[in-house]
Amino acid sequence: MHLIRRNRILRQSPAIRAMVAETILRPSDFIAPLFIIEGSGIKEEIPSMQGYYRRSIDLTVQEVKELWAMGIKSVLLFIKCKDELKDNRGTEALNPDGLMQRSIRAIKDACPDVVVMTDVALDPFSTYGHDGIVEGSEIVNDATVEVLAKMSVSHAQAGADIVAPSDMMDGRILAIRDALEQSGYAKTGIMAYSAKYASCFYGPFRDALDSAPGFGDKKTYQMDYANRREAIKEVLMDVEEGADIVMVKPAMAYLDIIREVRDNVDVPVSAYHVSGEYAMIKAAAKMGWLDENKAIMESLTSIKRAGADLIATYFAKDAVKLING
Ligand code: PBG
Repeated sequence: MHLIRRNRILRQSPAIRAMVAETILRPSDFIAPLFIIEGSGIKEEIPSMQGYYRRSIDLTVQEVKELWAMGIKSVLLFIKCKDELKDNRGTEALNPDGLMQRSIRAIKDACPDVVVMTDVALDPFSTYGHDGIVEGSEIVNDATVEVLAKMSVSHAQAGADIVAPSDMMDGRILAIRDALEQSGYAKTGIMAYSAKYASCFYGPFRDALDSAPGFGDKKTYQMDYANRREAIKEVLMDVEEGADIVMVKPAMAYLDIIREVRDNVDVPVSAYHVSGEYAMIKAAAKMGWLDENKAIMESLTSIKRAGADLIATYFAKDAVKLING
């Protein structure tokens, strides 16, 4: 054969492949989600997320120090609220001395440079496991947004750098930006879960926080996975309302959405590699059906290649170890 172009030339050795690799993962790409519980000295494995844990504040602080030392710049905090503190209005979410607020303070005290992001949504605090206030069988929008704005201010007050509303109510980004401005938190950022789909891949997360919806599903606020144009509408509105970072969630089944969002906005785009995506890799690896490390790197690289500037992933630590060889 006489060929003018031989594409295999640039694939022939690890050195050449490394030279021409278009997508390179780095520790600062990752946001590490953390699950926090009351108590001290507690580290308990989440059954449906093997190798991932809920920790009390003291051990969370240790973990954050470790993540920081590895080059991971940000953590995303979720708390598991005690049942007796749950109600329909997210009262506990506004407690200045609540588990979230104490966690933020403890982490910022011990590790002031780490970027602390906090989950803003009512589901962990809701007797109904819904992301908003329930009236009848409806998850009401405007009353929920008021609570979310107060919750954001409360997190900012405790020292959060970036609040991350994961609720999908309409108008919450504007309300949160407004509330932060009015309360003097002009430097607190917003990472909006803008294109968050109603997905079965959140299952293990709901086990982790005991936050599964008590009735119905989340389809009246989270997006229909059949839709793509709607994701662009959502992110553009959130950017207009003041989002500093927009998110697509989940990640692996939504790579087309990540790419389309990346091409349509000029703010950083994050993608959430969610609990079910973690659990699938873990389970297949445990069965000996997949090479876990290779699956982690291929998945995360694909998410970045699709256009994610930041990736929230339960594999953050594993990935950094793999990057460093
Ligand atoms: C709820 C919330 C969910 C996740 C993050 N915030 C679950 C849901 O919407 O029911 C899922 C994260 C994951 O699955 O890893 N506000």
